[in-house]
Amino acid sequence: MTDDASRILAADLLDEADQAVEGTLRPHSLAEYIGQREVKANLSVLLAAARGRGEAADHVLLYGPPGLGKTTLATIIARELGVNVRYTSGPAIERAGDLAAILTALDDHDVLFIDEIHRLNRAVEEILYPAMEDYALDVMIGKGPSARSLRLTLKPFTVVGATTRAGRISGPLRDRFGATYRLDFYEEDDLTAIVLRSAGILGVEVTRDAAVAIARRGRGTPRVVNRLLKRTRDHAQVHGDGRIDLALAEEALSALEIDEVGLDITDRKLMAAIAQKFGSGPVGVAAVAALLAEEVETIEDVYEPYLLRLGFMDRTPQGRILTDGGRAHLRKHGYDVPPPRRPEQDMPALWDSAALEAEVAAAPDGEPSA
Ligand SMILES: Nc1ncnc2c1ncn2[C@@H]1O[C@H](COP(=O)(O)OP(=O)(O)OP(=O)(O)O)[C@@H](O)[C@H]1O
Ligand SMILES: [Mg+2]
Repeated sequence: MTDDASRILAADLLDEADQAVEGTLRPHSLAEYIGQREVKANLSVLLAAARGRGEAADHVLLYGPPGLGKTTLATIIARELGVNVRYTSGPAIERAGDLAAILTALDDHDVLFIDEIHRLNRAVEEILYPAMEDYALDVMIGKGPSARSLRLTLKPFTVVGATTRAGRISGPLRDRFGATYRLDFYEEDDLTAIVLRSAGILGVEVTRDAAVAIARRGRGTPRVVNRLLKRTRDHAQVHGDGRIDLALAEEALSALEIDEVGLDITDRKLMAAIAQKFGSGPVGVAAVAALLAEEVETIEDVYEPYLLRLGFMDRTPQGRILTDGGRAHLRKHGYDVPPPRRPEQDMPALWDSAALEAEVAAAPDGEPSA
């Protein structure tokens, strides 16, 4: 992410100022938390049951793209349980001893939030298994032949783990979570409600149609719509009278080079690279990342999920492809789009189950043809 416009759409956190505003906009209860109805419904049962039994709640794993509200939910879980929450992250816990120190400092029924839980190292993970399962901490004392293991009992607690992709978590760790919730991109109505709520907190007047315009370009992501709202508010202050109506919102958003579906210059560059350098694919993600000088993880976690969601890109067993829709979008924005190297029907999408089933049925041995 090099230019300003793309930084605005990046769903990850930018700096401390960003974090401070984020704090003020964060919902504090499940009732205030907009959207994700299914997750909320399941979670409220889990929390009510734990409260009813007077026990620590089951461990909860939250996964989904950045900025959808995982940290917010962890905070809400603790609040709804009336306990403290301790925040940490996979990369922050370097040694088993670090985790032991955190665990022994927890109070009864506290919530331990572990962000980026897929990045815990093995030694730390192994301490976490018995801690989650039996509230037990196994410590080794002494060295060599006189070394022995000592089991300490911990106060019951709840781990809330967050990750951008559940597939990166080891099987044994995943098994120790009683509940796993997937956060999905938000619908336009929910994002509009989030814009209106945030505008109320920030004390800025915004018309409903302007809120919809902002929501539509928000990549299904609360963090992004909040950021777009803030930039639009700046624009209104400098170029208008501080109020945000549709015309002003459109003006501000186009000044940021964000197109009608919420893509910015970096997204379009990524799609253009696949179209122009790789004949629309299939191409491996590493090749695309190298070409754009981005980390593979950034491409996979930040850019791809929304392009997949829009149907502009597809993942196939052979690699990423740009779809017809993606090509049409690029053309509309003035990009030169050469014809695809391979016709698309050769490449069934991984989740296109109808196409896969047809292939399975056609193959003599019942396996999809490679
Ligand atoms: N359901 C929601 N309703 C209203 N605002 C929300 C909701 N979910 C998230 N937000 C807003 O979006 C911002 C980002 O949410 P949060 O930090 O919880 O995302 P995250 O999933 O933890 O992201 P990351 O993966 O980068 O850690 C919060 O400041 C909050 O204001
Ligand atoms: Mg977070």
